[in-house]
Amino acid sequence: MTDDRDLSATAADGFPTGSGGHDPEVLRQRALDALLTARARTATLTDSVDEGELTAQHSPLMSPLVWDLAHIGNQEEQWLLRAVGGREALRPEIDGLYDAFEHPRSARPSLPLLAPAEARTYASDVRGRALDILEAAPLHGGGRPLERAGFAFGMIAQHEQQHDETMLITHQLRTGPVALTAPAPPEPTDSGTLPAEVLVPEGPFTMGTSAEPWALDNERPAHRREVAAFHLDTAPVTCGAYQRFIADGGYTDPRWWAPEGWDMVREHDLSAPLFWHRDAGQWLRRRFGVTEPVPEDEPVLHVSWYEADAYARWAGRRLPTEAEWEKAARHDPATGRSLRYPWGDADPTPEQANLGQRHLRPARAGAYPAGRAPSGAGQLIGDVWEWTSSDFLPYPGFVAFPYREYSDVFFGPGHKVLRGGSFAVDQVACRGTFRNWDLPVRRQIFSGFRTARDA
Ligand code: AVJ
Ligand code: FE
Repeated sequence: MTDDRDLSATAADGFPTGSGGHDPEVLRQRALDALLTARARTATLTDSVDEGELTAQHSPLMSPLVWDLAHIGNQEEQWLLRAVGGREALRPEIDGLYDAFEHPRSARPSLPLLAPAEARTYASDVRGRALDILEAAPLHGGGRPLERAGFAFGMIAQHEQQHDETMLITHQLRTGPVALTAPAPPEPTDSGTLPAEVLVPEGPFTMGTSAEPWALDNERPAHRREVAAFHLDTAPVTCGAYQRFIADGGYTDPRWWAPEGWDMVREHDLSAPLFWHRDAGQWLRRRFGVTEPVPEDEPVLHVSWYEADAYARWAGRRLPTEAEWEKAARHDPATGRSLRYPWGDADPTPEQANLGQRHLRPARAGAYPAGRAPSGAGQLIGDVWEWTSSDFLPYPGFVAFPYREYSDVFFGPGHKVLRGGSFAVDQVACRGTFRNWDLPVRRQIFSGFRTARDA
């Protein structure tokens, strides 16, 4: 992979003008691996519950799992079969059903959706044809932007993995017998010796990317940002620390809350993260169908932006800005470059980050010493999505590609940026530049945070 020193083969909008220096056969293999990995996970998520559970709505916030399955196939059909392959629509009558903008999630169960067996057949028919198209795709420079460096294939693998995370959220919301299990993540080796925070000195850094072949439109283009000196938590805020906020009356004191956050607390009578409850003086949580004590040392999960913001104010701190987060994660003072990941430019290994639903929980704070950034901060990639203080806004020079409904229509003050990915995200959809966003009230997502302060 090239890095952001190599801006030569890049248009002003940050999209590669050629294959970006990547060997077409390497890209083909990467695309194939990414598509197969995604489909294996989709199969696990949809084969682990019965037909009734696939078509049921487990929460008004979520689609029935069978909707996600056919939507995954339908997006793949639109972009790989029709746009790249020039094929005719397989089932033109279903496009509207699986258009996320036509039907809100709460309305999806009452649509005439494909039944589970039909949805599976449809998704696998599309996939068979997509792999034929991938096999013959030139994947070199000069082609249409959608095909350069295999972008469309990478985009569709990322799209499927994003829905695999969405489906895992649905699994977490469902009640009933346990459907998914996974081994525990690795334990920290030296958490006792870690400093609580790291200092990131003042200075500019390169934010975003123009060289990453499968970076999505909102990550582009690379640009310089000035960042004042700041301190950042070495690890995400833990459940134990968050319990002290609760015990100190955090949810009953309006001083800590943004006005809309305080309204949310009162309207929904909130007193703890989602899925927590108190029993005989102890905090318990429900996690994928199992009730267990809340682990003190694990990053807190299932908090809204308002809760993260209130905790930070209570702690005498604040959330990091998006630029601060990315500088702490990517800036290498030794070279002045921005890395693809905190540990360097190589793709994640299981020793560096908790990704890909290998473990169905975050690792304890202080785990993954091999994943630390030059700044000294750890667990920036994987474990929990981290709320930042920033609104989701386009970078200077942003160009919507290939469709406005991916990012462009969500820019503005209504959505807050989350960074770094969670245990539920696959590495194809997670990197130092990757941007996620959601409404500040959302807490069913795999969200946590870390705090910062001015230096
Ligand atoms: C980037 C996670 C906010 O799930 O709404 C999936 C990803 N976009 N299909 C979402 C997405 C279109 C998106 N997020
Ligand atoms: Fe989608």
